[in-house]
Amino acid sequence: MAGPKILCVLGTRPEAIKMAPVVHALRAAGWCEVLVVATGQHRDLLDTALADFGLAPDFDLDVMREGQSLAALTSRLNEGLDALCAELEPDCVVAQGDTTTTMVSALVAFHRGVPFAHVEAGLRTGDPLAPFPEEMNRRLCGRLAAWHFAPTVRAARALLDEGAAPGRVVRTGNTAIDALHFTLARIPTTSPRAVPTILVTAHRRESFGAPLAGICDAVRELARGGVRIVFPVHPNPEVRATVDAALGAVPGVELSQPLDRSAFVRAMRDAALILTDSGGVQEEAPSLGTPVLVLRDVTERPEAIEAGAAVLVGTDPARIVAAARRALGQPATPREGFWRSPFGDGRAALRIEAVLRSAFSRS
Ligand code: UD1
Ligand code: UDP
Repeated sequence: MAGPKILCVLGTRPEAIKMAPVVHALRAAGWCEVLVVATGQHRDLLDTALADFGLAPDFDLDVMREGQSLAALTSRLNEGLDALCAELEPDCVVAQGDTTTTMVSALVAFHRGVPFAHVEAGLRTGDPLAPFPEEMNRRLCGRLAAWHFAPTVRAARALLDEGAAPGRVVRTGNTAIDALHFTLARIPTTSPRAVPTILVTAHRRESFGAPLAGICDAVRELARGGVRIVFPVHPNPEVRATVDAALGAVPGVELSQPLDRSAFVRAMRDAALILTDSGGVQEEAPSLGTPVLVLRDVTERPEAIEAGAAVLVGTDPARIVAAARRALGQPATPREGFWRSPFGDGRAALRIEAVLRSAFSRS
């Protein structure tokens, strides 16, 4: 295939999910050569997410190690991605979000003089330490990027306030919503359960220790109230150890392996309430009409809160339990169809493809 060579780099579950629509849109357009580079920052989570979207990596750096430190991960990514860039000589590197894979992709592209396109640009909490290290990763990407694909007006404004060139900031919507449309179209509808279900996920580094223990205390307390609790546990050893010890034998709490895409979207759609510290889940749940309690002190996605779809509750057990009981006590919202999302309309990847096509047709 002739045309500019575009490296789409991804390393973790959320990057696979949110980059899949971009890869598909670029390939369908046919004007460029698209190579998918999996860094393997995640292993099983990444492989499952890629397979869920019918993607296979063209290159796999396989960097994940059990309980990896940020420093060692960064250094393996830097070396691996730089060597690949030297070999492939891409015309553009595209990566999504705020992980270590994303930050190192931006840095390697900068060192090699290759323009970097940042998908899901401009999210900010304003606190450099929360989420950690993601807030700093995304700020660094914002300094290094040639194109900033901002999901919302607020994100675009944050980039412009930081001095990004106005012609290089494009509001596209979040590709998470494109990916959600893709999966929803492939899963059957189900009837509501007799027992209300609370879906829980938690994995943030800044919550390790007492905050995560507080989340588990809240879950244990809620389980005493006749609700079913489904908790797919993130494989990070820090998370597993705390959650398994605190909730492994609690009646009413179903701990599981991470769910594949279809099972997780069904679980979100069919839950009465979601408790999460996940970035992606905060974006997806409002489209499904499922209320969310955000288990963090700050969020870079305040649009969900402003839309009335989420409440920021932190990690204090009493506060989580009170907010969950309040949310469960409210009349259930009707769940037909796809809700209007503050994060996008499902066409973000098409807009990203159009911007890159126009940029490369001029160069
Ligand atoms: C990473 C990202 C975080 C993102 C999250 C999505 C960084 C610094 N963190 O956090 O921004 O929100 O992914 O889930 O980029 N592990 C496995 N199998 C897997 C994945 C992870 O066993 O498929 C275990 C390994 O022991 C690994 C550890 O989890 O060392 C941590 O993985 P890592 O990617 O460093 O951090 P996450 O907490 O997953
Ligand atoms: N997800 C999934 N299975 C699970 C938990 C989450 O498919 O068991 C999906 C979820 O729908 C979202 C993404 O994984 O699209 C979010 O990943 P995660 O919470 O690990 O990362 P974050 O979004 O916080 O960076």
